[in-house]
Amino acid sequence: ADERDTLRERIKQQLKAQDAVMVAHYYTDPDLQQLADETGGHVSDSLDMARFGHDASEQTLVVCGVRFMGETAKILNPEKRVLMPDLEANCSLDIGCPPDEFAAFCDAHPDRTVVVYANTSAAVKARADWMVTSGSAIDVVRHLQARGEKIIWAPDKYLGEYVQKETGADMLLWQGSCVVHEEFKGIELADLKRQHPEARVLVHPESPASVVEQADVVGSTSALIKAVHEIDAPEFIVATDRGIFHRMQQAAPGKRLIEAPTAGKSATCKSCAHCPWMAMNSLDKLAHVLETGAGEIYVTPDIIERARRPIERLLEFTA
Ligand code: 13P
Ligand code: SF4
Repeated sequence: ADERDTLRERIKQQLKAQDAVMVAHYYTDPDLQQLADETGGHVSDSLDMARFGHDASEQTLVVCGVRFMGETAKILNPEKRVLMPDLEANCSLDIGCPPDEFAAFCDAHPDRTVVVYANTSAAVKARADWMVTSGSAIDVVRHLQARGEKIIWAPDKYLGEYVQKETGADMLLWQGSCVVHEEFKGIELADLKRQHPEARVLVHPESPASVVEQADVVGSTSALIKAVHEIDAPEFIVATDRGIFHRMQQAAPGKRLIEAPTAGKSATCKSCAHCPWMAMNSLDKLAHVLETGAGEIYVTPDIIERARRPIERLLEFTA
């Protein structure tokens, strides 16, 4: 604990000295989330992280999360310095959608509006008409559908299937997936529900349809935290990265939170639902980048210019 206290102090000093503010995702280490809270920063889902960074007055943004979150912060704030504890922190959705292949896919369907999930590289966003997040996808797709537009959706096939089912929109889906959420299992979840008849089921829409179908609430990380706070039930089964439990438990101290079953759950891996890239964010790496200036995100001006439009469209649409 002593070592962590020292790290926390070093980070706090640096944030002040460098006119920097932290934004952290709910899946990151609770120590980082707590520091963001204590230092005037922000902990949230990916949409709110983008918005907070955009509105912040500080000259340096420290983004604790994965690479696309840092890139989005840089695209929206090219004049600011954006630091990340580990630039290698990526996302299977981003990795599974290489810009060249994606551009070819779009070129093959020029009549379709290109909608990409936030979890993509800056270069993929540069090819898009709209960016969406899990909390905004259905509303944006409905809006496009009402204008008679046909859609290319990338990269998450499960979120895409869910949005398609909810809206009935004409969507051509890229076949990507999240390594964390695709592991949740429908049959085992049904068994667990039988053992906990009073529990409500909360599911992030990056999960497979067999899991989403059993949900009482499907939503972004913020929506799921809100649900635990607002719904009057003693227990909740939660199908998303277990990093979220820290904030959920704070939001609803008396309630019991149960992890939804994953394929990998076994004696050796009690809980596999944790993103390996989110886990790369740590106090010591954060102290290091603040003290050395390492971990700065760069996006080329050309990509910034093109990627900005789809992101700003979403911010305006959800304002
Ligand atoms: P949201 O926080 O927007 O729900 O997205 C979760 C996510 O995939 C981040 O990895
Ligand atoms: Fe990507 Fe899934 Fe990790 Fe989120 S939890 S960063 S979607 S791999």
